[in-house]
Amino acid sequence: MLSAEDNEILTRVGPGTPMGNLLRRYWIPACLTSEIAEPDGPPVRVRLLCEDLVAFRDTDGQVGLIEERCPHRGASLFYGRNEECGLRCTYHGWKFDVTGQCTDQRSELHPFAHRIRIKNYPTRESGGIVWTYMGPAGTMTPFRDFGTETLRPQMIAVNKEQIFCNWVQSMDGDLDTAHISNLHQFDAIDDVPDDGTDKPGYPSGYMSMKFWRHDPRSLIEVDDAWHGFRYAGIRTTPNGFRHARVTAYIFPSSTIIAQIPFSTRQIFVVPVDDVTTYRYNFTTQPPANPRGYGGPLFFTYEKYPFEMLPPNGVVPRTYTRENDYQIDRFAQKGRSYSGIADFRSQDAMATETAGPIYDRTAEHLGSTDVAVIRMHRQLLRAAKALAADGDTAALPALGGSGDFQSIRGAEKVLDAAEDWRVLGTDADLTVREALGWLA
Ligand code: FES
Ligand SMILES: [Fe+2]
Repeated sequence: MLSAEDNEILTRVGPGTPMGNLLRRYWIPACLTSEIAEPDGPPVRVRLLCEDLVAFRDTDGQVGLIEERCPHRGASLFYGRNEECGLRCTYHGWKFDVTGQCTDQRSELHPFAHRIRIKNYPTRESGGIVWTYMGPAGTMTPFRDFGTETLRPQMIAVNKEQIFCNWVQSMDGDLDTAHISNLHQFDAIDDVPDDGTDKPGYPSGYMSMKFWRHDPRSLIEVDDAWHGFRYAGIRTTPNGFRHARVTAYIFPSSTIIAQIPFSTRQIFVVPVDDVTTYRYNFTTQPPANPRGYGGPLFFTYEKYPFEMLPPNGVVPRTYTRENDYQIDRFAQKGRSYSGIADFRSQDAMATETAGPIYDRTAEHLGSTDVAVIRMHRQLLRAAKALAADGDTAALPALGGSGDFQSIRGAEKVLDAAEDWRVLGTDADLTVREALGWLA
């Protein structure tokens, strides 16, 4: 539970808000490279942290991220002509380059373009994402390389999905292992025979789901880390072993969720505004699984498995609040626990239906919510500290001596003496093998 005041600080991201100021001290995704792939191609609207912007790629391939409103009489530059190294407003023909500088006023008798410059933010492309820094120029922090900088082009895999609720709510679900024992369950999992992987080592994906279902009372252990924290959800398996799912939180709005044998797929939650969110889901390192641990990923119930995503990388939302997420009450009685068809939409239902901005003064937190609580506390502490002293350098997870590529999620059935804290780290033998360090 939070006070109304803290919930406001936690959730609001507009210009001048404490959390808005904090998020503006980190490079964040603005759009996908695929959305503005072609030089002089159509611009896209980018609403980010409650600011209306337009992204475009100019004739030379440079990416601009500028204010949407034309400073002449306010028409939207989304409708502009992208031509000859600039975006030209179609109302009276004023033109702006990628820095926001007005370069031409074709309708003006006495041009004063050199005096007109609109808001622009710096951009950097990495891993199929156009990243931006929205803080004051003097406070610019280093670009954080999660692994995308050295990713071979053929390894780039990224998509984004829009969620209609506050960004913290969306991230709450990523740091909440308890819900997978319920929301993502399928009754049919009971019919899948034990394949012999309920023992120390890596279980199959099906057996993992059996474990989730078998033990809904996961024990949560959280360890603070330089990048935020890592936490494990520990369940007892039918054969009596400990099954650990390890998820990493990377301050301020990113997670690497548990996966067999370890995970380098990152989710970056980006507030569009206070009530709308994009979830960027991207690869940071080559596939982590040379031996094929885990096997095929779950059932085919996920409507858009990663490989089958639409070419522009924007996940369509066919299960929405407006159509009750197409809940199938018959399926809910006999096949799937939620009655909602695909994994992502199950999460969307749970997070969106808590309201546009969830009121945390009314919640009742329990033993499974400790990771969510830790994330809220870290965010509030940093936002308040920044508001008090303005010290950008003191913010968490800016890098420093920390290596973002050493942050991974993991999942395994533990040996009696095995510590989940080693899983997915550079000390984990499976990681070392995958990275070729044991050769
Ligand atoms: S409103 Fe854009 S040029 Fe006039
Ligand atoms: Fe989920």
